[in-house]
Amino acid sequence: MPDGSGIMSEESNEGEADVELEARLAEQEAFEPPESFVEQANVTDEGIYEEFEENWPECWEQAADLLSWEEEYDAVLNDEDAPFYEWFTDGKLNASSNCLDRHVENGAKNRAAIKWEGEMGETRTYTYGELLNEVEAFAAGLRDIGVEEDDVVTLYLPMIPELPIAMLACARIGAPHSVVFAGFSADALAMRMNAADSEYLITCDGYYRRGDALNHKEKADKGLRSVDQDVTSVVVDRLGEELTHFLGNDARDYDELVAEHEGASVEPVTRDAEDMLFLMYTSGTTGEPKGVKHTTGGYLAYTAWTSQAVLDLVPEDTYWCSADIGWITGHSYIVYGPLALGTTTVMYEGTPDYPERDRLWEIIEKNRVDVFYTAPTAIRAFMKWGSDYPEQHDLSSLRLLGTVGEPINPRAWKWYYKHIGDEECPIVDTWWQTETGGMMITTLPAINTMKPGSAGPPLPGVSATVVDAAGEEIEAGEAGYVTVDKPWPGMLRTLYENDDRFIEEYWTEYSDEAADEWVYFPEDGAKIDDDGYITILGRVDDVINVSGHRLGTMEIESAIVGVSGVAEAAVVGGDHDVKGEAVYAYVILEDGQEPTDDMRDRIVAAVEDAIGPIARPEEVLFTPELPKTRSGKIMRRLLEDIASGNELGDTSTLRNPEIVEEIADQIDSE
Ligand code: WTA
Repeated sequence: MPDGSGIMSEESNEGEADVELEARLAEQEAFEPPESFVEQANVTDEGIYEEFEENWPECWEQAADLLSWEEEYDAVLNDEDAPFYEWFTDGKLNASSNCLDRHVENGAKNRAAIKWEGEMGETRTYTYGELLNEVEAFAAGLRDIGVEEDDVVTLYLPMIPELPIAMLACARIGAPHSVVFAGFSADALAMRMNAADSEYLITCDGYYRRGDALNHKEKADKGLRSVDQDVTSVVVDRLGEELTHFLGNDARDYDELVAEHEGASVEPVTRDAEDMLFLMYTSGTTGEPKGVKHTTGGYLAYTAWTSQAVLDLVPEDTYWCSADIGWITGHSYIVYGPLALGTTTVMYEGTPDYPERDRLWEIIEKNRVDVFYTAPTAIRAFMKWGSDYPEQHDLSSLRLLGTVGEPINPRAWKWYYKHIGDEECPIVDTWWQTETGGMMITTLPAINTMKPGSAGPPLPGVSATVVDAAGEEIEAGEAGYVTVDKPWPGMLRTLYENDDRFIEEYWTEYSDEAADEWVYFPEDGAKIDDDGYITILGRVDDVINVSGHRLGTMEIESAIVGVSGVAEAAVVGGDHDVKGEAVYAYVILEDGQEPTDDMRDRIVAAVEDAIGPIARPEEVLFTPELPKTRSGKIMRRLLEDIASGNELGDTSTLRNPEIVEEIADQIDSE
């Protein structure tokens, strides 16, 4: 009710203006890059598409030229043993020296490399000079505990500066890192350490989430009990006195180790372009996560080039990607890409709504962030919280916005464009995957028209198309599958010690082995329009995307069927306002078992133990049967529709159509 103070009426006027603007935006389907952005952009010549196509694969020398090589490569691409491609063959370089030493030598010693914001308000800044010193000290420490070139070092750390420091220290001595997202469970850690036969673990005592100190070391210890090999660990003291700093028998203290080696000079180990830089485990169709292998030359060149061309980064920028380094986005676009270019990269430890819902905008204002890269799930949450929060802050430093991780609906895109970018910043909607190493399909921000909801054309030099089940290019407007029929420098090289699975997972569907024609299949559905813009429709395998996090339904199912009393489980993704997708678990109990709250709790706990809280089911639905076809296949599509509250299609082909109503009623009543 109006209170007569005038404030309300002012607000409601603003409200009307908003409504008008929203209405105009809602109609608008295409947006041109703002002039002010184009004037200063890194890549402005639209001839780049043709140039890269005509000059492929040599076009990728442009990416390699962004790096310092100890020895020049002989060939840009070696495809003799396709699909085991090699890029920049026989080139020699070190990733840590490319991210640190050369900037220090080129006069950027005092430029901030990392600006870290702790959730509780502390901040830490590392200049390039300071970062190099600490990386060298920790690299010496790693050697001290026995790490040698090619040993896989597992990093189980939250968003604290020691994580990128440890990554770069590993890179410096040629030890591939395998970062395990800190939100993953003890079992998930153990599985990854066993799979990589990793004998070293860098972890921490704990960290803060919404003001609470979480005990991380306990989880790490629990995980270690299931690791087959002997493990040496280093523990970062994040919490000081808050949690007892239990070090275990042979664990070393990070600060002590670094102090012992302070001032050490550790020569970067010369690595071959094709030497492994890191492993990253990601979910796939089967129960066991895949160890995606990335190498030094191609990956670093590709992340540096896309950071420059798509994120428009220059060394003077302060740039912030709000992802977690535990996922590929953080590897490529918090650590390697931006640091290879000598940019200042911001890192935030915590959640977007702590202590208040304006935390991110406060960080942008305070650090005068130029470029901001986040996920649609975050944007949907901001939208829900309302535009008052960003309006409290001066966001005028922003020049470019980006999104990654899942499709962005046009409404969220427009909200981001207006309320965060003030209609002055282009948005890049970047499609890519853990396996692709870097961005693949997106507009170039100073060149292409933006169409909200559609990622855009493939990048120059990236040969992505949308095909039907038979591999034929589809007509504009129809739905098909994304494929990539030429290699690119950032691509995964194989799955760790599992070449067969690498071929099977990515190169079987559309390749013609006899003709030596290899087509990469990312397992995403898509549409293409007359301008060649690709709209990603989502995964077509058993992977679901919860808040931009990639989860395997099989992994969740196997955790659930491990609960005593459970006979069968089917897990699907259902639509969710903020998360994009949420986990829905349909569970059949053994005869004589009751669908009690206790049973539900045990199921949820089993999922959290096997994977982590991110995989927690939104709902556990008990059912006497699952809808199956006459041949006995579970109709997952139908389960997804039930979870999403969609209209249910024809169920007459089912063996047990009556079960569908029964389950749907259960959802309605909850
Ligand atoms: C999805 C994250 C639509 C897609 C970098 C892909 C997207 C999976 C987009 C990879 C986007 C990523 N639009 N969908 N802009 N970006 N995806 O490996 O389904 O964690 O296959 O890599 O995320 O997830 P991953």
